[in-house]
Amino acid sequence: MTHTSIDQRGAWRALTAHADAMRGAHLRDLFAGAPGRQAAYTRHAAGLTLDLSKQRWSDETFGLLLDLAREAGLPEAIRALLEGERVNVSEDRPALHTALRLPAEASLVVEGEDLVPGVHATLDHMATMVERFHAGQWRGATGKAIRNVVNLGVGGSDLGPLMVTHALADYRPDDVHRIEVHFASTMDGSQLADYLARLNPETTLFVLSSKSFTTIDTLSNARTARDWLMSRLGQEEGVDDGLVMRQHFIGVSASPEKMNDWGIAPDHQLEFWEWVGGRYSLWGGIGLPIALVVGMDNFRELLAGAHAMDRHFREAALADNLPVLLALAGIWNVNFLDIRAHSILPYDGRLEYFAAYLEQLEMESNGKSVTHDGREVGYSTCPVLWGQLGPNAQHAFYQLLHQGTQAVECDFIAPLVRYDDVTDEATRDHLMSQHRLTLANCFAQSRVLMLGDDAIDDAGPRPGHKRYRGNQPSSTVLLDRLTPATLGALIALYEHKVFVQATIWEINPFDQWGVELGKKIAGETQRILESRQGLEAMDESTRALIEAVWAAERAAETDSR
Ligand code: F6P
Repeated sequence: MTHTSIDQRGAWRALTAHADAMRGAHLRDLFAGAPGRQAAYTRHAAGLTLDLSKQRWSDETFGLLLDLAREAGLPEAIRALLEGERVNVSEDRPALHTALRLPAEASLVVEGEDLVPGVHATLDHMATMVERFHAGQWRGATGKAIRNVVNLGVGGSDLGPLMVTHALADYRPDDVHRIEVHFASTMDGSQLADYLARLNPETTLFVLSSKSFTTIDTLSNARTARDWLMSRLGQEEGVDDGLVMRQHFIGVSASPEKMNDWGIAPDHQLEFWEWVGGRYSLWGGIGLPIALVVGMDNFRELLAGAHAMDRHFREAALADNLPVLLALAGIWNVNFLDIRAHSILPYDGRLEYFAAYLEQLEMESNGKSVTHDGREVGYSTCPVLWGQLGPNAQHAFYQLLHQGTQAVECDFIAPLVRYDDVTDEATRDHLMSQHRLTLANCFAQSRVLMLGDDAIDDAGPRPGHKRYRGNQPSSTVLLDRLTPATLGALIALYEHKVFVQATIWEINPFDQWGVELGKKIAGETQRILESRQGLEAMDESTRALIEAVWAAERAAETDSR
């Protein structure tokens, strides 16, 4: 039976026709014409409120988008994902990050094996490690307690733990031996060099985080770190390389063999599974830096919050389902209103790295143009997504949002309450007021983006360069407050949004073949740069770039003589 592409089917066609009618609609008029619109497009789950009333859509749009979701087989796809079917078709495996947050008493039998005991065995292993650190009992080769942990990883082995440790730093338990966690990802060594210059090797441990354990960025940093430790600690009495390796390295990977080859002690390895994608992996061993900062109880709360969102995703009707609705708003903008830029704007400094995290989650997952069965798609997929803390972005790129030529969808994200637990009363009042100031800015910006000049009372005709057109669509996500549980739910919300969009676009969100070629060509280029042989195989532009490096190196050599 030949497959009819999603854009050739009834719901997509109906949406295309409907979009013509909606294209001229202004959000101002959509609100004016439908009292109660805010409540009609707002949903709650797992400590989150999602307000989609500022999307440029109507009840008819909403109904047609739900038809599209059903026509794409979404309910069946959600079931297949959560039950562990091989939804990652090109790599022929399930995508079971949701299994990492199942409670211990649950059971998920996939291809004959219950995955939950293994997941909790890893969590228990993590808990034992964290306990040793927090008791000051994890000692370096010279006997001093470890104080600094540097995570060496990149992509999913960096962005998730980096984002969450920053977001939940307030949840650090104060009755434990304090561990400072740092992150070094860049292959140029600049972040690592900075840490090596200021950390004490006797009290520093490295976590090598790499699902594949082949990523050159991470392994090159790991080699530098190992040599630094060996050369600094090797001269100490009674310290040998084996002891340094054992006391100063933890490995987290899906390849125990490669961790063994690298010399990581077997009981200092946290293993995870091929069925967890790198950018979906913060929920297990890759989350060790998070647990080292917030403690295992809070880490388990993070998992519980994500699990609450998983249950909602599985159980809620499509029309009330937060990830489904967030995804459908995106589909409407990208595929029917031609809005192909999406900005993520958290109004809470703790979410500083959230946009960077989502850039990988969304664009590495859905930056695809070939369907499951190998056809080129005839429609747009993932928009260009970027972001920044909203208050800072107001002084950077909001000008473009308000008066540029690009239509941009925005996600505003903020907690309702903050600082009410600060003990000093005067400071608490100031900080709570600063939080209200931040919320006022968040709400004002989404309002101006919606209404344009009509947001001000005296709106009359305004001169061209002062004019605000408005009508930029946005979603607002409010967290009751930012806790481990609501953060878990927020991340899971976006993970599932990505899956819903991929399902409708008929693409695989769980592979990333597009990054492989670059790695291979980089290897070849490095060989030429180092060996000074084989330049003739390069194109003219690359040849000139390489020659420029060699010329600069020769000049530097001459200068230093
Ligand atoms: O290059 C892309 C990528 O494969 C990401 O998908 C992944 O998160 C990152 O590299 C790091 O991979 P690994 O965890 O295997 O080192």
